[in-house]
Parts: sequence; C-alpha cells; structure tokens
Amino acid sequence: MDFITFRSDTVLSDVHLFQPNTRHLMVRLNAVGQPVFVSQFKILCNGENADSTSPPGSVCILGNEAVGCVPSREDDSSCVDVPKEEEDGVKEEEEREQREVLQSLLDEDGDLDVLRKPKDHFRTEEDVTERDRVYPIILSKGERVVSEDEEDESATNVIKIEHTMATPLEDVGKQVWRGAMLMADYILSHQQLFRGCTVLELGAGTGMTSIVMASVAKKVFCTDVGHDLLSMCERNVELNRHILEPAGGDLKVCELDWLGNDFCTDPNTEFSWTEDEVADLHNNATVLIAADVCYDDDLTDGLFRTLYRITSNLRNPSTVYFSIEKRLNFTLRHMDISCEAYDHFRSCLEDLRNITDGKMRFTLETVQPTFPQFFTYERIEQLELWKVTAKTLDRNMDSSAIK
Ligand SMILES: C[S@@+](CC[C@H](N)C(=O)[O-])C[C@H]1O[C@@H](n2cnc3c(N)ncnc32)[C@H](O)[C@@H]1O
Repeated sequence: MDFITFRSDTVLSDVHLFQPNTRHLMVRLNAVGQPVFVSQFKILCNGENADSTSPPGSVCILGNEAVGCVPSREDDSSCVDVPKEEEDGVKEEEEREQREVLQSLLDEDGDLDVLRKPKDHFRTEEDVTERDRVYPIILSKGERVVSEDEEDESATNVIKIEHTMATPLEDVGKQVWRGAMLMADYILSHQQLFRGCTVLELGAGTGMTSIVMASVAKKVFCTDVGHDLLSMCERNVELNRHILEPAGGDLKVCELDWLGNDFCTDPNTEFSWTEDEVADLHNNATVLIAADVCYDDDLTDGLFRTLYRITSNLRNPSTVYFSIEKRLNFTLRHMDISCEAYDHFRSCLEDLRNITDGKMRFTLETVQPTFPQFFTYERIEQLELWKVTAKTLDRNMDSSAIK
C-alpha cells in the first residue's frame, strides 16, 4: 500500500464538502506530499438571508464589477437574472461532465480504475507508524483540465481555492474554515466599510478571506506562517486575479509569525516584508481581520501580543474583526462539555478591554451574524464575529518607538 499522509490525528473542514470541487480530483501533491484539491466558491448574488443591504434579486457588486446571479440553495426564486433554459443547460452540462468523469475512471470491464502514485513517493515519512495511517482512495490525479465553462464562471462569480482535504492540526491553514466564510460574508455585505482601506489579515490560511477583501479594499497584506502554506496562498491569489483586478489587485502575501517579535525584512527570505511595506502598513492600515485563528491557547496569546504591538504602532485608529467558531468538546478534566479555546479567546478580549497602560484603548462589540450569506456553508449558531476598536492615546509618540 502507498504511504499517504492522512493520519488518525487529522482534522477536516466540512466547508469544502458544500462546494463544487473540480471533478473531485486532486490536482497535485504539495511539497509535503499532501493531496491538493480545488474548490469553487460561488458568490451568491444577494445572499441567502433576508437582511441584505442589497434588495432581493439584485446583482452582487464585487469591487466595481457586477457578478452574475447564482441561485441560492434555499431560495432559487430570489435570483431572477438566470433564464430557466440557461439553468437547465448548466445542469445538463454538469451531468454530462460527471458521466464523462465516471466513464474515464472505469476500465474496459467497467471496474473502477484506481490510479496510484509510484511506490517510493511517500517513503520519507518515517515518523508515521503503520497504525496511524488511514488510506483514502484517490480516484485520479494529474493536470487539471479547465473547461471553457469554468473559465467563464471564474471570470464572474467564482473564487477558486486550492486546499488540502484533511490535515494534521499544525497544517489547518491549508483548509478553508467556516470562520473565513463568515468574515467573507461580512466583507461583501459591508463593502462601504472597506473600500479604499489598507487591511492586514492574520492567519489567512488559503487566502480565501484576503481575496474577498482585496476585491473591495485598496491594499491587503495577507499573512500567515510556513513556506508551504504561504506558497499555496500565493497560488490562490494568482488563480483569482480576475476577482482582484477591478479593485486594483493589490494583495501581498507575507509571513507574519505571532510567536515572533517583528516583521521579517530579510530580502533573502521568501515572503519577507520590504521596509516600504512595513511603513505602508503602519501609515495606512485601519482594518485587521483574523478568521478562525483561536484554537490553541499559546498561539492565541501570541496573536493578541502581535495585535497589541501592531495596533499600537499604527498611525491611525483601527478596527479588528475576529471570526470564531465555538467548538464544543467533552473533556475529562471538566467531565463536561467545554470550549476551552473559545473561553481563552474571550479572556484575551477582556484583557484587551481592561488595558489601562495609558497608551492604548480597546473597545469590544459583537456583530450579530444576521447579514446576508454570499457563500454556501452552514452558518451554525456557534459562529461569532467580534469587532474590536483600537486607539492610541499618546498621539505624540516618537516615531522611533515604532518597531
Ligand atoms: C484554522 S486556520 C484558519 C485559516 C483561515 N483564516 C480560515 O479561516 O480558513 C488557523 C490559521 O492560523 C495560522 N497560524 C497558526 N499559528 C500561527 C502563527 N504562529 N503565526 C501566524 N499564523 C499562525 C495557521 O497557519 C492557520 O492558517
């Protein structure tokens, strides 16, 4: 049996399961041998919820460009712009493609023809014990063939994201999480708040939210850690240039480690910052976003330290948006259902609010998730959005204090 990198400690985001995944085939293996897939995130024209800033049946404006209307799962009738014949045609085309894919996977006798990697491909994973391994069936691999239809779709209302399907905890950024979708919904339904802004995303993962933000904002610094993840993120930015360009397309993928003390400005390091970029961030950023980034207490502490450091060095007051999913677990320690990562996040928020160092003032509020849903995912009640405003009290701070 081939060595495959899925292990028993892997986590899976079900967000991908709701999206059309290009023929459900992996498109490549990443640098650490994980299968990579492409999912298409359709932007629904007016959201699924009634409480929309756009009137029902209207076309979603992304940046300066109107995108095509896609019927939502729950209310097809809200999207009046797609003629019935066209919809039927799309369905037929999808069914025909599915038949073709199935056909191509069968051998002459009609048996499923499973393609496998050559035997030695994964031999480097010595630390994975035989017992830990789970063997998924990979139906096929190879170059992804993009049909003309897909090209057309991507030009209007589809964000394509490369991601892995399941990962060990240290690689969770390679999947798209519900918090990213909630944040993306908020951005699309409050575009006026972000138009012309310089934005910093922390823990951006695949880049999904930064891409949506860059379709509206002036400049987005999309940050995370790890070469493999940042490379995947950068590929996603390239896959979605058509979405970004109407707004200027200014999205920079950079490394920003919450456990470090500063921006990496070493020109020999990939994904490092230039001095000009650091200055641009400090002089112009007014919005920070962080989607589903609080799942480990030490990392959360590092995240809040980074937030304090950055917001206190910004020239302007800023607003930080956090999305978080309250994940409930049964713990032996509590002998009950608890949500330790969420509780820690809340206590870090309280610490921010209670800061009285004479330098910064933070205020908190929750944002009710009643804004429209532009993407297909389950907006469960455990999903929350928090808004934190950050103001520097000492406006005469010496600029040399900026690190
Ligand atoms: C659950 S994922 C969320 C990814 C993305 N925001 C989303 O919602 O799809 C958490 C993210 O935090 C990032 N992260 C973890 N530790 C970090 C650190 N020390 N510095 C910066 N980012 C970190 C991970 O790499 C990952 O991308």
